[in-house]
Amino acid sequence: MRLSVDRYVLSEETFYKLSDLVNKFMGIKMPIAKRALLEARLQKLIRGNDLGSFENYLDFISRKNHRDPDIVNFCNAVATNKTDFFRENAHFDFMTKTALPEIRDSGCRMIRVWSAASSTGEEPYTLAMVLAEFCEKNSGMDFSVLGTDISTKVLTKAKAGVYSREDVDGIPPDLMRKYLHSRSGGDFEIKDVLKRRMRWGRFNLMTRNYNVPGPFEIIFCRNVLIYFNRDNQALIYGKLLGQLVPDGYLFLGHSESMAGMSSRKQAVAPAVFRIS
Ligand SMILES: C[S@@+](CC[C@H](N)C(=O)[O-])C[C@H]1O[C@@H](n2cnc3c(N)ncnc32)[C@H](O)[C@@H]1O
Repeated sequence: MRLSVDRYVLSEETFYKLSDLVNKFMGIKMPIAKRALLEARLQKLIRGNDLGSFENYLDFISRKNHRDPDIVNFCNAVATNKTDFFRENAHFDFMTKTALPEIRDSGCRMIRVWSAASSTGEEPYTLAMVLAEFCEKNSGMDFSVLGTDISTKVLTKAKAGVYSREDVDGIPPDLMRKYLHSRSGGDFEIKDVLKRRMRWGRFNLMTRNYNVPGPFEIIFCRNVLIYFNRDNQALIYGKLLGQLVPDGYLFLGHSESMAGMSSRKQAVAPAVFRIS
């Protein structure tokens, strides 16, 4: 049904079918309370493909496989990308004070870190700043950061590394001066000294085989699995633990838990697990 020039209405029946597709392609649970959100986020794709209704759009994407560009656009539209520099800062303190010294003392010289739901880049660049500071004080140490996300839209922004004044609010002033430069127009850009250490790629956590360039000393997978059902969470936690070196660290969001999900880990700080 079309109400005006560019507003399509999502019926309850079609919502449930689209919500099944969100679950199938992304692993995300989408309850009926999210109907208005999904309705708003898919308007542009219906218009852009000249489909005229949610029913036609459902029919259009139901036939596609997960690599199809229309499914990539669907995931881009559905994903919630809220993030910040130094979000849940206790994790970065724990890294500096505990995890990184322990990794150094184990004899490791190249610290490999994976931000597995990197959104627009704030989390992986925060990791890069923390790692650069640590390596500067510990000669002979080096690092790399891999940022991946299901959304190609956020990855484009992450790679560019350009942020508004509001975006960079959470960065301490000394790190701001050291690792970002200002651009004409009032924006800020991450300096090459960090960008050189970053790699980026599209990666769906629901993928059966994790073909990522690991293993890693540290994995961050924060504020994404909270939207997944328990079975998918358990599966993904298992695969993430499989990408860590022995004694490696997995950081989850503060409201996420692995309670009862794997015997291969021990909790070492709030939402931080160490593989055992
Ligand atoms: C709320 S953001 C969290 C960003 C960052 N980790 C943080 O805590 O600030 C969640 C991110 O997960 C991504 N995402 C959602 N489903 C995904 C999936 N199946 N595989 C990989 N990334 C996914 C979204 O595109 C989004 O960028």
